[in-house]
Amino acid sequence: MTHVFHRHLHQVPPVAVSASGIRIRDEAGREFIDASGGAAVSCLGHAHPDVLAAMHAQIDRMAYAHTSFFTTEVAEQLASQLIATAPEGMSHAYLVSGGSEAMEAALKMARQYFVEKGQVQRTHFIARRQSYHGNTLGALAVGGNAWRRAPFAPLLVPATHVSPCYSYRDMQPGETPVAYGLRLAAELETAIVQYGSDRVIAFVAETVGGATAGVLTPVPGYFKAVREVCDRHGVLLILDEVMCGMGRTGTLYACEQEGVVPDLLAIAKGLGGGYQPVGALLAQNRIVRAMSEGSGFFQHGHTYLGHPVACAAALAVQQVIQRDGLLEKVRRDAPVFAAMLAQALGGHPNVGDIRGRGFFWGIELVADRESKAPFDPALKLHARIKKEATARGLLVYPGGGTVDGRRGDHVLLAPPYISSRADLQEIATRLAAAVEAATASTVAL
Ligand SMILES: Cc1ncc(COP(=O)(O)O)c(C=O)c1O
Repeated sequence: MTHVFHRHLHQVPPVAVSASGIRIRDEAGREFIDASGGAAVSCLGHAHPDVLAAMHAQIDRMAYAHTSFFTTEVAEQLASQLIATAPEGMSHAYLVSGGSEAMEAALKMARQYFVEKGQVQRTHFIARRQSYHGNTLGALAVGGNAWRRAPFAPLLVPATHVSPCYSYRDMQPGETPVAYGLRLAAELETAIVQYGSDRVIAFVAETVGGATAGVLTPVPGYFKAVREVCDRHGVLLILDEVMCGMGRTGTLYACEQEGVVPDLLAIAKGLGGGYQPVGALLAQNRIVRAMSEGSGFFQHGHTYLGHPVACAAALAVQQVIQRDGLLEKVRRDAPVFAAMLAQALGGHPNVGDIRGRGFFWGIELVADRESKAPFDPALKLHARIKKEATARGLLVYPGGGTVDGRRGDHVLLAPPYISSRADLQEIATRLAAAVEAATASTVAL
């Protein structure tokens, strides 16, 4: 009998007992390769000695001090490190305990910025369908994941959702990627104008879409055009890099590859690599200045803001990534991993698309490659793949509702940056076997 309120009330998951590197072991002695780093979290793998040492040292010195009384050396160091490596113009880091908190802070800071500037009529957010920004009510309201939103819809503040950048399904025949990106930016502009350009606070987007549709990479020029649209209408651009940031795509921030700088940038997962719950919101100096010259106070806060042990873990994770050249390693190994996935999975009749960047890959499954028709959602193919992969000692992050929140299946891979080429090959091989077994079992029905 368990007293833990687990994710599913009819299933108690296996008991994890130890983990090191890219492997995690359970009570029954089974060992799994953590090919998704949980949910794209474990960028350094498990039990990294330098991160553990930094956490131990901080615990011995001081585990907690409330931010309404004190700052700490370690929070100051982490914020300085983040700002030193952040996109141009970022001046401050608001240190929270996870991705949803980072996004809540982003939404409220964006709103307060306009209140400080006297533009109180700006009350509306525009975001994208097939997106995920967190499960708290504000983040859920801007998120475009139909399944996650449905039961709570009456509680969510209204938001407008425009098309995601989903070239595999939505780029028209004969349309170039650049033309497709411009079409999407025009759709955003229409949505802004329709609502009233002086009433919109911000456009919110994951730079590379993550969990909902399985790693949607933007087409060239899309975010530049989006940035221009936002600027034309005085609308802020909030980028959610909770999943795709902190090196996951091969650069510290995914937006570096798009040549755009957001006004607010949310990070979490890879920031602390799972060693502690930690997230951050990075803010442009002009936002901070407006607030500083106005009320001088962000009307927000949580008990665990800037938690010293979380900051120590995040600082150590970021220092190791830098010291060990792990972003360069991810960039070097990304094409090798892509080739392994293509080789292992590309020929499978139910693999419709393999897409991604760096160590962040999505595989979309289809019933028919030609028409791109998804599997019947009742088959729950994504859950079958998870089961088959787990049985082969491989942890992956599959999802359903890839196409529209209801139909479609994908598998998300986010291996730790320390994974060797042999590890990457093992991931591709085991996943191919799991996909084969899961699709065969649907055909047998
Ligand atoms: C893009 C994105 N934003 C926000 C979140 C929410 O983060 P958390 O689960 O840490 O609250 C997630 C989590 O998967 C995410 O992928």
